[in-house]
Amino acid sequence: MTYEHLLTRREGAVEYLTLNRPDVRNAFNEHVIAELSRWAAAAHARPAGEVRAVVLAGAGKMFCAGADITWMSKTIDYTEDENLRDAAAMSAMFAALDTLPVPLVGRIHGAALGGGAGLAAVCDIVVADEQAIFGFTEVKLGIIPAVISPFALAKIGRSAARELFLTGARFSAARAKDIGLVHTVVPASELDAAVDRCLREILSAGPAAVAAAKALIPEVWGLGASDARPITAAAIAARRVAPEGQEGLRAFLEKRTPGWREDRKNTKDTTDTKAKTS
Ligand code: COA
Repeated sequence: MTYEHLLTRREGAVEYLTLNRPDVRNAFNEHVIAELSRWAAAAHARPAGEVRAVVLAGAGKMFCAGADITWMSKTIDYTEDENLRDAAAMSAMFAALDTLPVPLVGRIHGAALGGGAGLAAVCDIVVADEQAIFGFTEVKLGIIPAVISPFALAKIGRSAARELFLTGARFSAARAKDIGLVHTVVPASELDAAVDRCLREILSAGPAAVAAAKALIPEVWGLGASDARPITAAAIAARRVAPEGQEGLRAFLEKRTPGWREDRKNTKDTTDTKAKTS
């Protein structure tokens, strides 16, 4: 599949997806949204296990400066229906990334502003350069972080959103970590190594278990324990009887590397033997 504004490459079971409009700091317009949506549709349709993690990054000086302001200014002349259609397409793109069947790892350098912070919010794991700046800056432009709000709220909660959505203030990577938007903050020179560490963790886990764990979170989120019980009981029962669950449990007991770990076959692995299963 070819793209004008995205770079994609595959290294083993990891796909690297890079926003590629560096001249406008990877701001996204309707064409980027269409390409990201096309990429995400293909990723959702892929056979399980072919790709086991995706790294989302930005080319050039920064991760992403959010929605393209030139594109948004054109929407002034759109009818309300046209604006609705446009916003719905952007919302569908964020939802498709949010529900990707494999972990989405954000590699943030420079800045993640507006919709760029929204992209960080739909990543499962975010690694950021300590100098990176973040912001839900829409109100500074007289607009609001509407489309990204469900994803951002799920990450940072109401309290931080009430401050940051309302002020549009820019904030540091350290603050982004405090509010749960970012998980690891490192110096720029260590960013790729930190992303690699995260990928190694993902690749050492059972691929179907990782996908099931990701799917479980939105299902259980917001439910009380008794409402969650049938869902969680069914989810763990399904994993225990699935070939991968059986293999993982047996490998632990037999003190050997589970079959899915192509990287570590025939080597003793201390991570797995220390792991606890639920
Ligand atoms: N939409 C469209 N173009 C953008 C953009 C955006 N969101 N953000 C940056 N650009 C463009 C600039 O207009 C500039 O274009 P030019 O070279 O034709 O003048 C180019 O990208 C480089 O921007 P510049 O400000 O010179 O680079 P910088 O590295 O000093 O600063 C930012 C980068 C992202 C910090 C700064 O451009 C900025 O604050 N942008 C607005 C971000 C924002 O509010 N996003 C929320 C949108 S809802």
